Amino acid sequence: MNVLILGSGGREHAFAWKIAQSKQLENLYIAPGNAGTAHCGTNVNIGVNDFEAIKNLVWEKDINLVLVGPEDPLVNGIHDYFLNDAILREIPVIGPKKDGAQLEGSKDFSKQFMMKHGVPTAQYATFEKNNLEEGYLFLESLKPPYVLKADGLAAGKGVLILSDLVEAKAELKNMLMDAKFGAASAKVVIEEFLHGIELSVFVLTDGQSYKILPAAKDYKRIGEGDTGLNTGGMGAVSPVPFADQAFLNKVEERVVKPTIAGLKAEGIDYRGFIFIGLMNCDGEPKVIEYNCRMGDPETEVVIPRIKSDLLDLLVGVGNQSLSGKSYELIDETACTVVLVSGGYPEEFEKGKKVQGLNLPHDSLVFHAGTKQEGDDVLSNGGRVFAITSFGRSIQQAVNKSFDSAEKIMYDGKYYRKDIGKDLMAYTD
Ligand code: AMP
Ligand code: GLY
Repeated sequence: MNVLILGSGGREHAFAWKIAQSKQLENLYIAPGNAGTAHCGTNVNIGVNDFEAIKNLVWEKDINLVLVGPEDPLVNGIHDYFLNDAILREIPVIGPKKDGAQLEGSKDFSKQFMMKHGVPTAQYATFEKNNLEEGYLFLESLKPPYVLKADGLAAGKGVLILSDLVEAKAELKNMLMDAKFGAASAKVVIEEFLHGIELSVFVLTDGQSYKILPAAKDYKRIGEGDTGLNTGGMGAVSPVPFADQAFLNKVEERVVKPTIAGLKAEGIDYRGFIFIGLMNCDGEPKVIEYNCRMGDPETEVVIPRIKSDLLDLLVGVGNQSLSGKSYELIDETACTVVLVSGGYPEEFEKGKKVQGLNLPHDSLVFHAGTKQEGDDVLSNGGRVFAITSFGRSIQQAVNKSFDSAEKIMYDGKYYRKDIGKDLMAYTD
């Protein structure tokens, strides 16, 4: 088979690394990819939203399956574009159509979906320009902190959590009246703040049946001890020690099953990954959000833990034979530590020469934002690497990643040295 992966981050490198090991694979292409994915297949310099160029590539390289990494092309309708094309329509796209991608593309849609299909989530209401005053009243009815969410995609920045009512009202006005997040905040979801500890559960579905993949916890804040600004993710751990079988059974019964049934009931033929962001509220799962793709950096721990052929599972998603497939897991803990560029998530510099990649690493070094220039690998993003290691304990796994993190050198390197630390309290 010839496979195309769309995207250029650590998630796509982890996918490429895994799919490159499949016996079913002939040729692997990654568009646009990064310096790391170039070792797993052929990078093609095409943007993930350039559907016409993707179409030509698929045609030219006789691609048999397309795996979409990020949410943007899904929300923009890449899967629908394939289905509407006489030549492309037979080629499976792993990732939902526009309708299913609304689970991530519109917070209002996903909240309505959860309410309608009985999926536990925070109480909420949605407001637009013409009912700002009602939004103020709703805020007054809630206890702090206040959670404000731009309805549409806002590059991961559209959620505000505010402790002060006056500030919350001002931000609501900012979002609705002054387009703080552009068109994405034309609608704003205000919701009850959930207390608990977060984790993510990943589901792969062919629209009929599903497989629950390993759960993971990510570390979103830039600073140690979960302080400072939100990032795309600074590290991840899988499995999650506080998500025991009893909790995961509740997630399957109360969240996964009604979600899959709800999609079917809505006539949404969803084929791809569902990323379920959950709060464990005293042992009760509540959904914070859905994403229509895998997480980054969660993919860098979830996918390496899968022993079986991932491509075989994806083929099953494409032709709706997933129910007949099974997969095995590596029974160790995987941790990933993300190395970023100094300044990230605010202003940062790119183009820094990376050294130490060729040293022996007891880890998988996934490239998150790099490019090849001649013989050099240069940093090319805020998140530069995601270093994944296995261990019998979180401590053991994360220490291997820290050792690798020390060997890799570039100007302005920064990483959190407390990845997994909070979880050690849950293990013996
Ligand atoms: P999101 O962009 O939806 O992932 O939200 C960003 C982060 O805000 C989440 O990962 C949570 O940490 C936090 N968050 C979102 N909604 C809530 C909520 N209702 N209660 C508490 N924290 C929340
Ligand atoms: N790590 C969070 C995300 O991929 O959205």
